[in-house]
Amino acid sequence: MTSANLSDNFGRLIEYLRLSITDRCDFRCIYCMAEEMTFLPRKEVLSHEELVRLSQTFVDLGVSKIRITGGEPLIRNDALHLLQRLGAIEHLQELCLTTNGSQLTKLAKPLAQAGVKRINVSLDSLRADRFKQLTRVGDLQRVLDGIECALDAGFEKIKINAVLMKNYNLDEALPLASYALERGMDISFIEEMPLGEISSHARDAEFISSEDVRNLLATNFQLNPSEHSTGGPSRYWEAEGYAGKIGFISPHTDNFCASCNRVRVTASGRLLLCLGNEHSVDLKQVMRANDDDQVLRQAIIEAMQIKPEKHEFDLTQEPQILRFMNATGG
Ligand code: GTP
Ligand code: 5AD
Ligand code: SF4
Repeated sequence: MTSANLSDNFGRLIEYLRLSITDRCDFRCIYCMAEEMTFLPRKEVLSHEELVRLSQTFVDLGVSKIRITGGEPLIRNDALHLLQRLGAIEHLQELCLTTNGSQLTKLAKPLAQAGVKRINVSLDSLRADRFKQLTRVGDLQRVLDGIECALDAGFEKIKINAVLMKNYNLDEALPLASYALERGMDISFIEEMPLGEISSHARDAEFISSEDVRNLLATNFQLNPSEHSTGGPSRYWEAEGYAGKIGFISPHTDNFCASCNRVRVTASGRLLLCLGNEHSVDLKQVMRANDDDQVLRQAIIEAMQIKPEKHEFDLTQEPQILRFMNATGG
């Protein structure tokens, strides 16, 4: 059944669900997490059955794109089986995945076969020592090997995500762009967002605007604005001579909320109406209390009425949003 459409009070159509399937991660990226983290107890996390039920219901309500996120989604037990089930949902047009790349050597091929169309892989440095510093524990070579497997696996598109921080990895903007473009991938450079209290750095001291990054890249690439859109917040530029595109996600300097088409569900089944606000509805509770999908549908439709107009991030203040990014998957 594909009948209803989800829309909010600002006339925006919601067609994109970001579904976090675990808050756990094998990395500890400094902008995403604190060094010591407590994760959800297992019984709080949605089961496969619940995730499939929820996804099917969103698709029935007009959602055409689902992006699986984490934490690191691929470290969830039997993630592949879950993705195979989600890939089989009728009328779902696009199943996508955001990953840190650590499991791709073994999972890239079966994921592509399961119907995952596009994957986004986080990669903030091409230097092993720095990669370890930024992820606290990650092994660069393992991720690079995983990306090579993904390139061979037959995805429609692979995008690299890089969060740039002035004193950590800004000097790698050019090498990262070259790395992606030379392999036919897209790359998005992301302005860091203040989610959760971290101790490794002051977020405002690390801020670098997308425009400054673009000017830096323009010393090496001939950049032309592109109309290309994936339905996400990245604004793309073509780099002459390359098929891949360079995108910028600019929550601070080029707000994209007016065209927001997405909502999130956390691993514990909390429907979050905006990454930068706390407005939410507990869908786990709705699902566990009612077998009737009509009740779930109604809860989702009604939740759209509390979707905020936009995020307000202020890097100079204590974070207003205390949940860490791994809780929402970005
Ligand atoms: P596609 O456009 O489908 O390729 O995906 P994406 O770039 O939207 O998703 P991805 O998971 O790769 O996220 C990239 C960055 O965009 C992450 O830092 C997310 O937190 C950020 N992002 C995605 N959606 C939103 C949003 O609605 N608001 C804000 N503030 N950031 C977002
Ligand atoms: N600000 C911006 N992007 C972030 N990510 C994680 N934490 C933050 C943050 N605080 C990115 C990751 C990944 C994507 C899901 O979100 O690098 O690519
Ligand atoms: Fe894990 Fe992604 Fe957070 Fe890094 S950004 S710690 S890879 S969830």
